[in-house]
Amino acid sequence: MCGIIAYTGNQNALPILLDGLKRLEYRGYDSTGLSILSRKRIKTVKAAGKLNVLESKLAKPIIGHCGIGHTRWATHGAPTDENAHPHTDPTQRFAVVHNGIIENVDALKATLKDSDTYTSETDSEVIAHLLANHKGELVDAVREVVGAIVGTYGLAVIDQQNPDTIVVARNGSPVILGVCDGAMLAASDMSALSRHTNQIVHLDDGEIAQLTPAGFQVLRLDSSVADKKAITLDNLNSHYDRGGHPHYLYKEIVDQPDTVQQTLSGRLDDRFSTAHLGGLNLEPRDLIGIKRVTLLGCGSALYAAMAGANMIESLARIPVVAEPAAEFRYRNPVIEKDTLYIVVSQSGETFDTLAALREVRRKGGFVLGVVNSVGSTIAREVDGGIYMHAGPEVSVASTKAYSSMLVSFALLALLLGRSRDTSPQQGSRHINDLKQLPDNILKVLELEPEIAKIANKYKKRQSAFFVGRTNGFPIALEGAQKLKEISYIHAEAYPASELKHGPLALVTEKTPCIVILPNDDLLAKSISTMEEIKARGGPVIALTNAQSTPDDRINKLADEVIRVPDSGELTLPAVMGVALQLLAYHSAVSLGRDVDQPRNLAKSVTVE
Ligand code: F6R
Repeated sequence: MCGIIAYTGNQNALPILLDGLKRLEYRGYDSTGLSILSRKRIKTVKAAGKLNVLESKLAKPIIGHCGIGHTRWATHGAPTDENAHPHTDPTQRFAVVHNGIIENVDALKATLKDSDTYTSETDSEVIAHLLANHKGELVDAVREVVGAIVGTYGLAVIDQQNPDTIVVARNGSPVILGVCDGAMLAASDMSALSRHTNQIVHLDDGEIAQLTPAGFQVLRLDSSVADKKAITLDNLNSHYDRGGHPHYLYKEIVDQPDTVQQTLSGRLDDRFSTAHLGGLNLEPRDLIGIKRVTLLGCGSALYAAMAGANMIESLARIPVVAEPAAEFRYRNPVIEKDTLYIVVSQSGETFDTLAALREVRRKGGFVLGVVNSVGSTIAREVDGGIYMHAGPEVSVASTKAYSSMLVSFALLALLLGRSRDTSPQQGSRHINDLKQLPDNILKVLELEPEIAKIANKYKKRQSAFFVGRTNGFPIALEGAQKLKEISYIHAEAYPASELKHGPLALVTEKTPCIVILPNDDLLAKSISTMEEIKARGGPVIALTNAQSTPDDRINKLADEVIRVPDSGELTLPAVMGVALQLLAYHSAVSLGRDVDQPRNLAKSVTVE
């Protein structure tokens, strides 16, 4: 989605803004721009396209110490120079960058009667025009303008008449302040701040902050002062460095032995064969009272939740459903007090997931979060939760965060299971599996050359199917998701049992089918699925943790076999997930795709 960076201090703003924009580019964008106060005037440069287009327009640098920058992901109006942010008012006094959507833009424009002075098709430009209608302090003008907006905003404004001051405001779109010695920054995302500071302040909805080189003050819409203190986040910068790897995605795949270890760290209790999850804010008595669990997320987070639902239901023997967060709130869900609601999100900012969380809380439900991004909006609004500790994920497609979601659900399943039907012996078997996970992922990474070969062999195919039964189905969904989003090969996932009810009509020698074969009670049935596909001439890529089968049937039927280490039910989705990530990665690389910034997609979807 769109990105914001703002700086006021004693250094030249231009390189800081450009560096911030570069670090925001992983979020996906189609145009960029910046405004800097230079010799008492606001100078603005904007360009459709990638950051290098903007840089080429800045051959003569703008000198100034206060400025704002933006990367845009078009919602209102095509990606053009004119529609890129910042937007200014007709007198060029104010410049504004805005993330979000202004729903009452027409009504706001009608109050101004200056319709012939707009230079863009965006909803955002109206903010600058409204500001120009106000006299007095910048912060008061922004407070009045945002008070009139219906919709969402994360915004930053500079004013020719307040040369060192930036005012930022937030409602539904993240704004984070970065506190430095003699300077202040603001951004929509930690990535743009991490090089400069680890002292940060998260704004809440309805807050406005005034930034000067000397510091910040946060106000609420009613102009009362909010007492916000900076928190310290450690070791952030290393995650935004590719560390010599060709892509962030690759780095994030190969980092997974470490990142799942971080999710597990300090959370396995050998003595009682259970998990420690202090952040849940639930006593054993609360755990035993849970009658049902509902998991909510979007995209890969939803697929992780579907795998998590199987884990929790299997160990704790309570009904669990995983639902798309965006649909949940629109079907007027029944919220029950003995149901545990869990929202799952890497970024902690996904609009639809946040809206589902708010719907549950509004109706009095208790909500936990499984969240990666520390201090994010979802993390702050839940009643308790599990931090994944996977570190910031930069590539648009989720890999390490997805695996850490699975590990978080495995820990929760263990805890809920041990508070009910899971015996200490079963619990310690699961703990051993979880301890083995980093090593098992390492073993999957060693399969990379053979997986790359398979990817290369099938890269020209237009379509692929991923099929699996019960525990294998969420794995298939995520495998198809990874392949389609980064390689653009059309990929669909089905429960293997559904093939014969329709999709089999599409299986030919041109459609590779990736069959997920967990070594469980359904293995023989999953092998029959391979027979069905082979009978229609479809090439079969078998992904299994079964080390051998009677008559060696997997080897005999499959055109390719990816054999991952034997793993238990809690860890298999992560182990197989890594193999499918490598398959997608090598397919995308061999097709020359933009792996880290796939077309049309953005990291952290903060609009509906
Ligand atoms: C796919 C992917 C997306 C996200 C989804 C939710 O690779 O990354 O499907 O999983 O947009 O994002 P978060 O987890 O930030 O809520």
